Amino acid sequence: MIDFLTEAQKLFPYTQSMRRDFHMHPELGHQEIRTAGVVARELKSLGLEVTTGVGKTGVVAMIEGAKPGPVILLRADMDALPIHEETGAEYASRTPGVMHACGHDAHTAILLTVAKLLHSIRQELPGSVKLVFQPAEEGMGGAEGMIADGVLENPKVDATLGLHIWNEQPLGWLGLAAGPVMAGTEGFQIRIRGKGGHGAIPHLAVDPILAGAHVVSALQSIVSRNTPPLQAAVVSVTTFHGGEAFNVIPPHVELSGTIRTFDLSVRAMVLRRFDEIVQGVVSGMGCEAEIEHIRMTPALINDPQAARAAQRAAQRILPESHIETSGPFTMGGEDFAFMMEQVPGMFLFVGSANHEKGLSYGHHHPKFDFDEAVLPRAAALLAATTLELMENRTG
Ligand code: NI
Repeated sequence: MIDFLTEAQKLFPYTQSMRRDFHMHPELGHQEIRTAGVVARELKSLGLEVTTGVGKTGVVAMIEGAKPGPVILLRADMDALPIHEETGAEYASRTPGVMHACGHDAHTAILLTVAKLLHSIRQELPGSVKLVFQPAEEGMGGAEGMIADGVLENPKVDATLGLHIWNEQPLGWLGLAAGPVMAGTEGFQIRIRGKGGHGAIPHLAVDPILAGAHVVSALQSIVSRNTPPLQAAVVSVTTFHGGEAFNVIPPHVELSGTIRTFDLSVRAMVLRRFDEIVQGVVSGMGCEAEIEHIRMTPALINDPQAARAAQRAAQRILPESHIETSGPFTMGGEDFAFMMEQVPGMFLFVGSANHEKGLSYGHHHPKFDFDEAVLPRAAALLAATTLELMENRTG
């Protein structure tokens, strides 16, 4: 049987050169033209039939196993962030203001490597692999666009696998939990209307700034007083805009922010309390409020069977790892949850930080960088998990 780690390590120069090429040429969501072109070229060089333009700039290819079995979807995200890179690395972004600061350059290079690994054993593969290179993960609807373009059909997908390199944890750590691992995310906007007036004559105005300030404070009671202490939720007000002049009470203010939850009943409670508190506080202050909730991603929930497959694969090929089997790992969100919501699967976290080398800045930081030794580890684990899942589902 193939030794995925040894083979992935042999491919390290390839994976690293791909990763650095993507890193030097980052592209924002739905602008991944060059990246998609490189991906398509590499997949075609394996003799695969490649479909481009799926969900605008996504790329899809199939590896048909010689034996019958399930179709496993493997997904990597390709987009970068509007951040100006400050790593000083020789392979730093050549595009000012755009940076691969989340590791999606790694994900794309890892999946190209997995394509080589699994393509090399296609004669023994009991099932098929749908390689999915997704655009626009960073809050821009990339996964939904690919689903709308039919990525889960023709052939129908039986299980989904994705991964994130994870700089919150060191190299050697693996997060392979069943159940919820990343939060459901939503945005909100609140517009509070009062009555404008002179800053020195407040009794003739209705001050929306004061109402908004009370709203910000009162919303903090949802997590501290309404959420069961053993469950998780976040309510963050992140913008507060109002007023133009020091001596004018403005007629309205606008607030926005984000809500994060895992559990659907907690989510429903948070949204209900949110509206009650905003409306109650605002009307008590003589103002009116309009609230808009924007659902962004569902919680990312790993299928127990797929989680066991990943754990078995990790124990076999990366036995020295610290394998964390209980999540969740972050209140951050991930749009792969839309695919996993329709076809259960597994999202693997692969520790990538190296404190001794100074490679431990968090995701989305302008100095974000990781230990490239994670690349073959992640590729081998993803390939081995795919095979585990196929054997599990056919056997
Ligand atoms: Ni990311």
